[in-house]
Amino acid sequence: MPTNAYLGIDIGTSSVKTVIVSGDGEVLATGDSPGSVSIPAPGWSEQNPEDWWQSTITAVSAAVSQLESPNQIKAIGLSGQMHSLVALDAAQQVIRPAILWNDVRTSEQCEYIYDTVGAERLQEMCGNPALEGFTVTKLLWMREHEPENFARVKTIMLAKDYIRLKMTGEIATEPSDASGTLLFDVRRRGWSSEMCSLLGIDPWILPPLIESSGIAGTVTAEAASQLSLPAGTPVVGGGADNACAASGSGVVAPGTMLITVGTSGAVVAPTVEASVDPNMRIHAMAHAERDTWYLMGVVLSAGAALAWWRGAVADGSDTPNFDDLVNATAGMAPGSDGLTFLPYLTGERTPHADAAARGVFAGLNAAHTRGHMTRAVLEGVAFAIKDSVQLMRPLGAVPDSAVIVGGGARSATWRQVLADALGLPLKTVGPAEGAPLGAAMLAAVGVGAFSSVAEAGSRWLSTEGQTDPNPATADAYESAYQRYTSLYPALEEWFASTMSN
Ligand code: XUL
Repeated sequence: MPTNAYLGIDIGTSSVKTVIVSGDGEVLATGDSPGSVSIPAPGWSEQNPEDWWQSTITAVSAAVSQLESPNQIKAIGLSGQMHSLVALDAAQQVIRPAILWNDVRTSEQCEYIYDTVGAERLQEMCGNPALEGFTVTKLLWMREHEPENFARVKTIMLAKDYIRLKMTGEIATEPSDASGTLLFDVRRRGWSSEMCSLLGIDPWILPPLIESSGIAGTVTAEAASQLSLPAGTPVVGGGADNACAASGSGVVAPGTMLITVGTSGAVVAPTVEASVDPNMRIHAMAHAERDTWYLMGVVLSAGAALAWWRGAVADGSDTPNFDDLVNATAGMAPGSDGLTFLPYLTGERTPHADAAARGVFAGLNAAHTRGHMTRAVLEGVAFAIKDSVQLMRPLGAVPDSAVIVGGGARSATWRQVLADALGLPLKTVGPAEGAPLGAAMLAAVGVGAFSSVAEAGSRWLSTEGQTDPNPATADAYESAYQRYTSLYPALEEWFASTMSN
């Protein structure tokens, strides 16, 4: 029985996932507890932090029950959805449901930030644009629309930080999640007091920062009995889900790249210093590895676009499952016979930063079938990811391959579309899913089992498969991509004049 094991917990939007890994990288146990999102108004997206905690109890207990003894667990790491605002009062009670990363109600607050701070100062101070997803816009929305709630705010934090508070009683965050608040100086890896003062935000509501592999506290007796864990187990700072997914996939050094095709899509490319996009179309984030940063592009609806399409198609009696739906497109020609799909169902982050953008099928003709439309969805998401990869090249990300993770990575057909559209070999790595595994790695680093995330990765990870681009499809994908990239500019004004969030 391995005596040293590390627990990683990922507080995702669709579920809480756990993994327990032995010191030599063997997956000993996993757990999963699904959650749901509440949409109180169009464009809004909320979850109750207490539901995360209940899901955590379920997913941790399920994993721990597979061990010979809970005492095998030597440390715990946390990963979580980025940006989502948790606001606590003086009694550390949640004031209102968390406003999530994919909630786009805050366009006016973004404008306010540009008017008050200016794009240039924002770039200098935070390295990131004012986008609806970022935490501070949600706080400003509360100040304007829920002043009685705002007046009670004593502390703000991110999803995984709330779970740590429940586990240890300690308030803390770490650089990778702080990067997504827009109150953080990414280059300096510290809170931006200037940003707080320009926006009139009390800096004392920001949690203390520790490193992602720093020990933030230990599991309390009360949490231990709820989680079936030993009291006193150390809990490390952890990281943003994208930083943990990269860590858990071996993407911590320049030259590597992670492509996530989950509910949202993300492209992550590590850098040795903060590399800030002068146009702020690509995010600059602190990595969970010390003294490392990454560039990131975000596609708001990746798997979510296919889930939407399946839901819309599945209204009929011949409801296909995802595999049947996707596999039916495998033999089809690249470019969906002239059909183009923009996956901007809830607006888009990279490259357009446009909450008013919407999904589009363009170029339908009478010969198109459901299969063409499915294929156009797969290609549209691949092209949205390609937009991020292209923007990263001049900023120093020149990978010769990428690691792919997320639900979309499990489909061989979609992986091939992505490899062909991107012109990059795509690798799958094991032994477990990136974000919870990355959190477990941070836990192992935190108690000294490894000196760095890179070292943990070199011991724990191995390449399980590779999908190579098919050069024969390159020209067809290039012309389909040109068609794709020309569509948004043609519709941008139309979106702005017709869509309200
Ligand atoms: C990243 C982002 C999403 C969430 C998903 O900026 O908003 O990828 O982290 O959990």
